[in-house]
Amino acid sequence: MVKLFNRLIQSIIPLIPRSIVKLFAGRYVAGETTISALKTVRLLNKRGFAATLDILGEHVKSFEKAAEITHAYAALFDEIHYQKLDCNISIKPTHIGIELGDSQFKKNIDILVNKARETQNFLRIDMENSPFTGRTIETYKFCLQTYNGVGTVFQAYLHRTESDIRALFSPQFNFRLCKGIYHEDPAIAIQNRRDINKNYVKLLKIAFQNECYVGIATHDQDLLEDIYRIIDEMQVPSDRFEFQVLFGVPMSGWLGKHISRGYKVRIYVPFGPEWYDYSIRRLKENPNIVGYVMGNLLHKQ
Ligand code: FDA
Repeated sequence: MVKLFNRLIQSIIPLIPRSIVKLFAGRYVAGETTISALKTVRLLNKRGFAATLDILGEHVKSFEKAAEITHAYAALFDEIHYQKLDCNISIKPTHIGIELGDSQFKKNIDILVNKARETQNFLRIDMENSPFTGRTIETYKFCLQTYNGVGTVFQAYLHRTESDIRALFSPQFNFRLCKGIYHEDPAIAIQNRRDINKNYVKLLKIAFQNECYVGIATHDQDLLEDIYRIIDEMQVPSDRFEFQVLFGVPMSGWLGKHISRGYKVRIYVPFGPEWYDYSIRRLKENPNIVGYVMGNLLHKQ
């Protein structure tokens, strides 16, 4: 019954008016402006969480827009430094122009990696869908020539991930491990949750064996149980990893365990005027939210 309800919600999500989506979006997005995002980060820091800021948007269509986003991120590095926040930055390659040609894109990523170095911060390059996997890894390697405080993301659902991470082992290798959010072809990606989780665990073990620093990005309680077990069994020092979660995903359950074990938790905080597509993706992942919000709204009448 619940599954049927969720499928129904998923099919109608694209038809929901923007004004209604905004009601749900509030939970996942730290407002539309830099000021509201930095305010959220300050509150999260006060509660003991690190953060990473992401300006919402992707697939920019012009050099001007790519340059504008790049400069917005550079200004964000300055603000984080000035306000002494525990916060780094996550960018999407298609948001700063990877589709617009190599020279413009390299110029933009160069600005950001230099700004990260100047402010002694960290730049994370998010992983988008499979047409960009190879170029994102190349971008990461390009950035490393300038500064070590840079990392990328790997997706446990892709068959290629194990060989990709094995090819990158080095003392400064820092990556986020997530399951992967895009729809990918079965020829290149594992499709069922159990097998994705199995691969996640395998990749994490390989990473720990090779002393990489891993941002463990998942809210999956079953997977987290396996991860705690691996950390205990392999006696992984807590300075080799952090847990990463999305802003707005309910914190019950895993949060208490992360904290009682003394683990670092970083919250991924997206913000900006382009909140719509991101919110739709989050709602499709968890249609239950629609039910919770409707319930709350009705309750308030
Ligand atoms: P799963 O999808 O199995 O969810 C487990 C449980 O978590 C759900 O049952 C639900 O209770 C809760 N949950 C998950 N999503 C929720 C939501 N939206 N609202 C409420 N509850 C929710 N992907 C990618 O391809 N490239 C990237 O660069 C990144 N970056 C990234 C950063 C961070 C910090 C996180 C946490 C995730 C990503 N992802 C990503 C997304 C990731 O690949 C994946 O799609 C989501 O994290 C959901 O997968 P889980 O591992 O949480 O498990």
